[in-house]
Amino acid sequence: MTTPRPETLAKLTPVLTKRWLSPDAWRIGTYEKLDGYAALRKALKAHPDDLIQLIKDSGLRGRGGAGFPTGLKWGFIPQGDGKPHYLVVNADEGEPGTCKDLPLMTHDPHALIEGVIIASYAIRANRAYIYIRGEAVHAARRLRNAVAEAQAKGYLGRNIMGTGFDLELVVHSGAGAYICGEETALLDSLEGFRGQPRLRPPFPATHGLYASPTVVNNVGTIASVPYIVLGGADWWKTMGTEKSSGPMIYSLSGRIANPGQYECSMGVTLRELIELAGGMQPGHELKFWTPGGSSTPLLTAEHLDVPLDFEGVAAAGSILGTTATQIFSDQDCPVYATYRWLEFYHHESCGKCTPCREGNYWMVRVYRRILAGQGTHEDLDTLLDTCDNILGRSFCGLGDGATSPVTSSLKYFKRDYLDYIEGRTAPKLSDKQLVGAH
Ligand SMILES: Cc1cc2nc3c(=O)[nH]c(=O)nc-3n(C[C@H](O)[C@H](O)[C@H](O)COP(=O)(O)O)c2cc1C
Ligand code: SF4
Repeated sequence: MTTPRPETLAKLTPVLTKRWLSPDAWRIGTYEKLDGYAALRKALKAHPDDLIQLIKDSGLRGRGGAGFPTGLKWGFIPQGDGKPHYLVVNADEGEPGTCKDLPLMTHDPHALIEGVIIASYAIRANRAYIYIRGEAVHAARRLRNAVAEAQAKGYLGRNIMGTGFDLELVVHSGAGAYICGEETALLDSLEGFRGQPRLRPPFPATHGLYASPTVVNNVGTIASVPYIVLGGADWWKTMGTEKSSGPMIYSLSGRIANPGQYECSMGVTLRELIELAGGMQPGHELKFWTPGGSSTPLLTAEHLDVPLDFEGVAAAGSILGTTATQIFSDQDCPVYATYRWLEFYHHESCGKCTPCREGNYWMVRVYRRILAGQGTHEDLDTLLDTCDNILGRSFCGLGDGATSPVTSSLKYFKRDYLDYIEGRTAPKLSDKQLVGAH
């Protein structure tokens, strides 16, 4: 393991993660001692429109993957329409490799709750939901306890802190489907239906939960709000880059010495993150990596110095996504990794549209054939052709995302595919695992 140099250590900007290591960080007493609920006091004295403007000025962009400007999203909620408004926090966190929202909710649930109250006040919502992934039992328990603590202290419920503002916050556990992270499928699931994406338009801003104006935001987005309210938009913009402001929690996994969450200004590079994580594991050399989960095209060792912000990663041909950097070495096989991801997409496809439902089914079978040493050169064309028929033709982003590892691994690592097809690499799958592949 290597020790990071002081100049690299200085890249760490603990903001959302700053309380995580405090003893009992999840209790309201600790939270209040460490600035907790001070932003709420400040926010409730401001006009809701001024809060929306503050978030616009900060340049905060959604942390759920698409990077949509948060203030703009809040501003889309029609005011004075006489309808109930809702805030829904997307805590589904299902993107492979992503691990930033769960630790945040486990270690610092009050930061999210404080953000929920401020955001609800800004968009004039009196009911908010946190939709949490079904398997995240521990985090859901922490959140529910924290909601009860906040309620007992008068931060939630009726007439919050004597301001006349009411807010009910419900923590809702899903059943553990990746598609329920897609915001419209999430809303269907929350309403009690099977989680499948809705046709857009109309968008959730006007026809969201129960056909009412709704903001859906990621955990990290909402948890950023109290810091912006306390520190101001200019302070927030001292971190990050011009169009990607603020700090970001990068989750590092794979062949590095110290996997975990590293919060840095946006625009940090993978070279710096690997140094922060103590370097690669001994004997391993970087071969490929995902900048933001498996739905984002793979990058390689050529891209070690790409700034990890929305623009920098896009310019390198990928997507910042959820900043889940999964790091693979020369001892890992990009063909096998892609196959495993495709198994996931195939399993999680909700089946609503043909390109994703059938395309992923067929691609899994082609991969099994290749990995069993029975692939052909035509199989590679079939894969690209299938991706062509999924990308841009699927009903939601799950289908598009599934093509990312396929097309990018074929772009950078065609040789590894040919090694299976031409017999230079020993088959990884047995004939038994081929069942149903032909
Ligand atoms: C298949 C799929 C899964 C998604 N999963 C999540 C998720 O787990 N968490 C999340 O915040 N956003 C997820 N998203 C993105 C959401 O649809 C939505 O853009 C996001 O919650 C908006 O919040 P933000 O503006 O704060 O980023 C997913 C999108 C797709 C297409
Ligand atoms: S792309 Fe996949 S997950 Fe999305 S609607 Fe179509 S079948 Fe369902």
